Amino acid sequence: MSRSPNVLFLLTGSIACFKACAAISRLVQAGVTVQTVATPNALRFVGAATLEGLTGRPVFSELWQPGRALDHIELARAADLALVCPATANTVNRLAAGLADDPVGALFLAWELDRKPWWIAPAMNHRMWQHPATTAALTRLRGWGVQVLDPIDGPHACGENGAGRLIEPEQIVAQVLAALASP
Ligand SMILES: Cc1cc2nc3c(=O)[nH]c(=O)nc-3n(C[C@H](O)[C@H](O)[C@H](O)COP(=O)(O)O)c2cc1C
Repeated sequence: MSRSPNVLFLLTGSIACFKACAAISRLVQAGVTVQTVATPNALRFVGAATLEGLTGRPVFSELWQPGRALDHIELARAADLALVCPATANTVNRLAAGLADDPVGALFLAWELDRKPWWIAPAMNHRMWQHPATTAALTRLRGWGVQVLDPIDGPHACGENGAGRLIEPEQIVAQVLAALASP
């Protein structure tokens, strides 16, 4: 790749957004162009100024934002890899339903799934992770070619323990850089 690789980094409303910020920072330091996208609920956990400060680019968070009317198509066209991180149970289920009424869902439907990787890194309570709605949605997404960076076992912010913790930022960054380096 002659230009710097371009990653679309989509954040959704999880407590693990702070870990996503660490991954974004490391990707930028590694020379990756990172364009962030955030749901309104993600912006309750991390500010737009933080995402712009980390990447040097304004976050895309609103389909109807003046001047950004075609971003849901153009950002999908420009990126080499998309990563939803952290991916909430809500967004996993919304993507599997093909809903496109927010930037994350619209970009997913505009993405060339057969040509470019779309990854999701879920983060949620272990009961949400094991819920049949979530497992069915993940099976559907995997069937469409989406790669899932499986969460790990461990303590949750709610005080419970189990599978559902977002994988660590170093692992996310290592996997993204390896994918970008492969032909
Ligand atoms: C403090 C707090 C932490 C949350 N953490 C998570 C989480 O880690 N995973 C998850 O699936 N939902 C979590 N939620 C619930 C989501 O924010 C909620 O389902 C929201 O509708 C997700 O919206 P989005 O997917 O559009 O960003 C949390 C909610 C609160 C208030």
